[in-house]
Amino acid sequence: SFTANAFVEEIVEELKQKIGNDKVVLGLSGGVDSTVAAVLLNKAIGDNLYCIFVNNGLLRKNEFESVLHQYKDMGLNVKGVDASARFLDALAGLEDPEAKRKAIGRVFIEVFDDEAHLLKDVKWLGQGTIYPDVIESVSVKGPSATIKSHHNVGGLPDFMKLQVVEPLRMLFKDEVRRVGKTLGIDDELLGRHPFPGPGLAIRILGDITPEKVSILQEVDAIFINGLKEHGLYNKVWQAGAILLPVNSVGVMGDERTYEKVVALRAVESTDGMTADWVHLPYEFLMKVSNEIINKVKGVNRVVYDISSKPPATIEWE
Ligand code: XMP
Repeated sequence: SFTANAFVEEIVEELKQKIGNDKVVLGLSGGVDSTVAAVLLNKAIGDNLYCIFVNNGLLRKNEFESVLHQYKDMGLNVKGVDASARFLDALAGLEDPEAKRKAIGRVFIEVFDDEAHLLKDVKWLGQGTIYPDVIESVSVKGPSATIKSHHNVGGLPDFMKLQVVEPLRMLFKDEVRRVGKTLGIDDELLGRHPFPGPGLAIRILGDITPEKVSILQEVDAIFINGLKEHGLYNKVWQAGAILLPVNSVGVMGDERTYEKVVALRAVESTDGMTADWVHLPYEFLMKVSNEIINKVKGVNRVVYDISSKPPATIEWE
């Protein structure tokens, strides 16, 4: 059976042998996998691991600053790159979910490639790939199909020509968490809900503007903090808020309002392939709904998504 301690000892030794005095570049996402991969690599090669954490402007409220700070506290050699404006420019006017995903993928690759070029003589690309990702990319997408769909002309960007090192590629998610715990990574970070790469872009239905991003960040923060305060966060596999592209009529004082609707989503799941909506307590939903409508300007209605996957998906786009 799997022993996290033994795994750490072995993999660190293996990484040392394999990488020697070479430099490695790795993109941190704020998620569990890339963080655990980075800490293992850092243990093996220290500051020869260069981590890059990109702010795409579509993260949760305050997430970029707070996670970057955590990374630095963990002793990682990390550079935070705020590319929000570049992402939002590329997204302007796009409504189609796949077009939004492609734009984000493309800009991410450009930003990451620029950063990788600033580092001289990098030999390796570190990645937080875990076993289920390995299986999925072979069976569903084909190994290079995903990369190509993000990057249209001119061949692969330079960083993708690097040799790849994936310390977690034989592990399942729960094993990654156990390894993270052995490495002393904060429980809060290890217990974080999954969050999609395109971030809030796929939770803002239709086109994306900075105002919509900031409205959704506020709503999401109230919902997620509420789950934490009420001891519900760890009972939920994934949760978030969705900004709908419709206005509805409301009333405030003796004025009629015509403002945005948000949907709250919380699901139970083991792998994201199937999911059930969580029966959150009515009292909790009431509190959160009141707080959102009272505090977030531009929102006058909150609904709760009671659809399971299948036939619905977890995200709305
Ligand atoms: P769905 O909506 O397909 O989501 O039921 C299943 C899981 O995948 C995440 N998801 C994504 N993750 N890029 C990602 O990195 C994406 O484009 C993407 N779309 C969905 C979703 O958050 C859920 O955990």
